[in-house]
Order: sequence, then C-alpha cells, then structure tokens
Amino acid sequence: MRGKFIVLEGPDRCGKSTQAKLLYNYLLEQGFDVVLTREPGGTPAAEKIRQIVLEPDLDIRPVAELMLYEASRAQHTQEKIIPALQEGKIVICERYTMSTCAYQGYARGLDLDMIETLNNIATTGLKPDLTLVFLMSDKYFSSRGEYLFSDRLEREDREFRENMRRGYKNMVGRTENAHLIDADADVDVIREKVIALLKQHHITDLCPSVKS
Ligand code: TMP
Repeated sequence: MRGKFIVLEGPDRCGKSTQAKLLYNYLLEQGFDVVLTREPGGTPAAEKIRQIVLEPDLDIRPVAELMLYEASRAQHTQEKIIPALQEGKIVICERYTMSTCAYQGYARGLDLDMIETLNNIATTGLKPDLTLVFLMSDKYFSSRGEYLFSDRLEREDREFRENMRRGYKNMVGRTENAHLIDADADVDVIREKVIALLKQHHITDLCPSVKS
C-alpha cells in the first residue's frame, strides 16, 4: 500500500476526536491527501450498523455486539480504508481493532484469540502504521461511578472501564508502532507530541507524488 494508516484509540471522551481533527488539518496544510474516518461507521452501511450497536436501550448480547463491530469494520476497511491507502492517501481512523480487544475482550470478557481471529478476517490483515492510544485519568465519572454521557457502551460500570483501560495499557506494550499518550495534558502539548510521533514513524516521509 502506498499510503499510511494512523489509528487513534482510547476510552470514550479521551480527546481523540479533537486530536484527530487537529491532525487532519495539520496534514492537509502540509499538502497531503488525507481521509478522516471512524469506527464503528465510516461508510453508509457501517454507519447504520453503528446506530444499532450504540442504541442505548437495545438488548444486544456480547457475541452479537462483537459481530456488529466486526461487520462494520469489514465494510469500512474494504470500502474505504484500503482503497484510500491504495491511492496513496493518509487515512486517520478513530478506533480500529484495538478497541474491540479492549472493550469486547478485556472489559466484556470475550475470548481474545477469537477476537483476534475476527479482527483479521474483517481487516484482511491490514495493520496500522501508527496507533496512538490516549489514556486520561477517570475524571469524567461521577463520584458514584456513573458515566456523565450515555451511549450504550458508555453506560458500563467502573469495573468495565478499568478492565478496558488495563487492556489498552497491555496492548500498547506489545503492539508494533503503538504509543501511549497522556490525554490529561494540554491539547496543544498533545498535538505537538502527535506530530513528533508521525515524524518518528516516517508517516510524513511519503513520496512527494502522494502529496496533492
Ligand atoms: P465512539 O463514541 O468513540 O465513536 O465509539 C463508540 C463506542 O463503541 C465506544 O464506547 C467504544 C465502542 N467500541 C467497542 O466497544 N468496540 C469496538 O470495536 C469499537 C470500534 C468501538
């Protein structure tokens, strides 16, 4: 693939959407052809799956939930991410396979090997060139441990969130090209850190013909 694939990961409300937009604008200013996308979702069919999987009051069982995320990913990877990379674009994606391991695996308790297998099927083995994992202190929760926001996954309890965060930390240590970012830091400090990591990983060394 001629392009580069950057994934932003982390718990809900860790600031990754803000950083994804800042990074998108930075790369556009540098003259790159960039696609900003997200999971679950990113294409019309995958966005419909997103609506189902995040609907607050639907009873969705763990394996069904896993399959919905993977269905969204299969569609998104094939329809949008791989074609954009083949055209030499830089793809920035909010969430990817690591989210499924963290949420459905470490937090929900589904078998991690099964999830890895499904991740591989859904992505046809496509791996990010750089994964940035944003972890903040648990400051967005009430003293009773309730999340202050409310999609279906955000309603999970403290134990779920702690397991998910532990999962992210474990995975960063053993995933190629993955870095932990302190999401409590100032937004501009984080932006500079992200840009430095892009340079360190030669993301912006793409050959000039790839630039628009
Ligand atoms: P978002 O709000 O960051 O777009 O993500 C939607 C929710 O879906 C969020 O709570 C994380 C969750 N999620 C999973 O549980 N498994 C997955 O594979 C993905 C991509 C997201």
